[in-house]
Amino acid sequence: MTHSGQPVPLAARKSQSLTGRVRVPGDKSISHRALILGALAVGQTRITGLLEGEDVLNTAKAMQALGAKVERQDRDGAVVWSVHGVGTGGFATPDAPLDFGNSGTGCRLVMGAVAGCPITATFDGDASLRSRPMRRILDPLELMGARVTSQSEGGRLPLALAGARDPLPVVYRTPVASAQIKSAVLLAGLSAPGITTVIESEASRDHTELMLKHFGADITSQREGSHGRRIALTGQPELHGADVVVPADPSSAAFPIVAALITGGSDIVLTDVMTNPLRTGLLTTLREMGASIEESETRADTGEPMAQLRVKASRLRGVEVPAERAPSMIDEYLVLAVAAAFAEGVTTMRGLQELRVKESDRLEATAAMLRVNGVKVEISGDDMMVEGLGHVPGGGLVATHMDHRIAMSALAMGCASDAPVKVDDTAFIATSFPDFVPMMRRLGADFS
Ligand code: S3P
Repeated sequence: MTHSGQPVPLAARKSQSLTGRVRVPGDKSISHRALILGALAVGQTRITGLLEGEDVLNTAKAMQALGAKVERQDRDGAVVWSVHGVGTGGFATPDAPLDFGNSGTGCRLVMGAVAGCPITATFDGDASLRSRPMRRILDPLELMGARVTSQSEGGRLPLALAGARDPLPVVYRTPVASAQIKSAVLLAGLSAPGITTVIESEASRDHTELMLKHFGADITSQREGSHGRRIALTGQPELHGADVVVPADPSSAAFPIVAALITGGSDIVLTDVMTNPLRTGLLTTLREMGASIEESETRADTGEPMAQLRVKASRLRGVEVPAERAPSMIDEYLVLAVAAAFAEGVTTMRGLQELRVKESDRLEATAAMLRVNGVKVEISGDDMMVEGLGHVPGGGLVATHMDHRIAMSALAMGCASDAPVKVDDTAFIATSFPDFVPMMRRLGADFS
């Protein structure tokens, strides 16, 4: 889905306090993977808790266009997504270009899956996705035998990818810590005979590995160096359909968490939040800053660990966030910068180069969001320094640049800033967290 409608502006005003208990929607990374693996498996996959955001719905449509049967079943409010897959390597040529809207993850993972099938598919997306680099995905897929038959300048969308008739297993060292690159290679490797190996020098989120195992693949993951991993997948497995329970998305939980920390008197509970250690860098950092975040009801019975989080308004102090933590909180720096602005002292975040190639240039966009609201920010190379003064003047209009996380970060900031924070367009929030505005209002946020 590509946004073509009018922008939807919104302002956040200082709230009394945020209180209550909520479950944020299902994890986006796991939702994409459940649909894609379900489509490549034999038999039925039943997914509960799937994120029904635009990004994931576009992946569901792509799976259907490639030959899988995808159905949403709603029995008295209990929603289950059912996928009947085509089997490894079994995708059919789609009739029309696949439109991934705003979603880099959907697009890049499906490129990997298509690369292992003897078909050609055209990939497209909105203006944000069309501006993002795809060479990082296409390079390893070409090594495995896929061919790019048409592309826009610099290997960007729209582009057509011809999958390999006889894919080759590779040993691939990812040039940057990226779960998207790793996952694309592994998904292509499903169709290759022999062992496909991905080596990463910093471990990125491992949902693809965990879910491949859950669907019956033979896959191992070993430590490599001080922070890395070596992942080895045996190709041509028979993947069988499986039940998937999608926990709540920690990257979506990040917004109410920070809003509650900075809004005086707040006390909220977030249920079923995924606590995979490769996703919890934000929680680690916030705790170092002095945040009160209690974990309880920890469970891991559904393949990924999850817990209930109780978050209370806290006095925060500036900290230094090391570069090696970046992969475990790559989507959370925007909202961390908001927490840093309310903290006392400087917060230094290092190694943020990957933020420049997300839904927007998040390094520049984060600095602009804070500066327009009276916060001092410095960017030096790939590092960002935010000067926290214990409060934020606010009063600014934030440009969202087609980026859902900028919109939600700015609105979280406005919950506690002295003057209201306005956002130029909230439409893109629907890509990952369609209920964000009503859920925040239920907690007590003053959005109008
Ligand atoms: C994702 C990986 C991350 C992240 C994105 C989701 C995934 O991107 O930013 O929102 O589900 O694999 P990179 O792996 O490119 O850093």
